[in-house]
Amino acid sequence: MTAEKPSKKAAKRAVGIAAAVGVLTCAAIGYAVYENTAIQLARYEIASQALPESLAGLRICHLSDIHVKPEPRDYGPLIKAAASTEPDLITVSGDLVDSRVSDISAAVSLMETLAQIAPVYYVTGNHEERLPPEIYAEVLKSLEDAGVHLLRDSSELFVMDGVAVNIMGVCDRKYPDFDLIRSLEQDGLFNLLISHRPQFAKEYAEAGADLTVCGHAHGGQARIPFIGGLIAPDQMFFPEFYQGVHEFSGRYTVISRGIGNSLIPVRVNNRPEVVLIEIKR
Ligand SMILES: [Fe+2]
Repeated sequence: MTAEKPSKKAAKRAVGIAAAVGVLTCAAIGYAVYENTAIQLARYEIASQALPESLAGLRICHLSDIHVKPEPRDYGPLIKAAASTEPDLITVSGDLVDSRVSDISAAVSLMETLAQIAPVYYVTGNHEERLPPEIYAEVLKSLEDAGVHLLRDSSELFVMDGVAVNIMGVCDRKYPDFDLIRSLEQDGLFNLLISHRPQFAKEYAEAGADLTVCGHAHGGQARIPFIGGLIAPDQMFFPEFYQGVHEFSGRYTVISRGIGNSLIPVRVNNRPEVVLIEIKR
């Protein structure tokens, strides 16, 4: 038996290390793609005395921050997940299109499809609000033509089995106009508010919204086990309001972790999510 030459041994070791690095890189890429694209369904059940008895079990599919970009993305799984919630209505809390986008056709076609599942109620996010005026106008016109209910500092009644829910929606601004929100509320009805920014979760409830749905925080971008979200716009590091259900004396704010990405292109332990809110009495 002859001993292996040192140069042959070193070459074998180099090949082994290269193969291991290759496998780990592929696994990391696969994990990153999965984390950033595989839709997760979050189901929340809340109980509200403000909901009329006959509407108990109302199902709201909530979507946010889809951030449709020029690069093609398959929205089939998103549509499938939204349909699987069997919603009575769908809420979209802004940043449907990314502010760097000029072709909005994919966003419009997605919303057109969602509007065939259930009535869709939409408000703008900070990304739409900073679009060039001509694209901003095109977004609003196209969504309206697609059958989407645009809520622009306004409210609409959603009627089911003859009973109404007051759906209020505000255009995105740095600080919400709470006097405006109060003026949109209707006594005796369940008041649902759609607003982009989640950091005012408590103030929305204090202003009288029975349920508010938001987004904007992108789930804190990376969720650290036992700690929570890492960073969110306006709230910076370790934000308080980045996901989930927040209760304030029987009123609620539900925050979606969103579907897409914006300036920070990567999600970690923070898959895109479709939210189902079921309201009981
Ligand atoms: Fe966003």
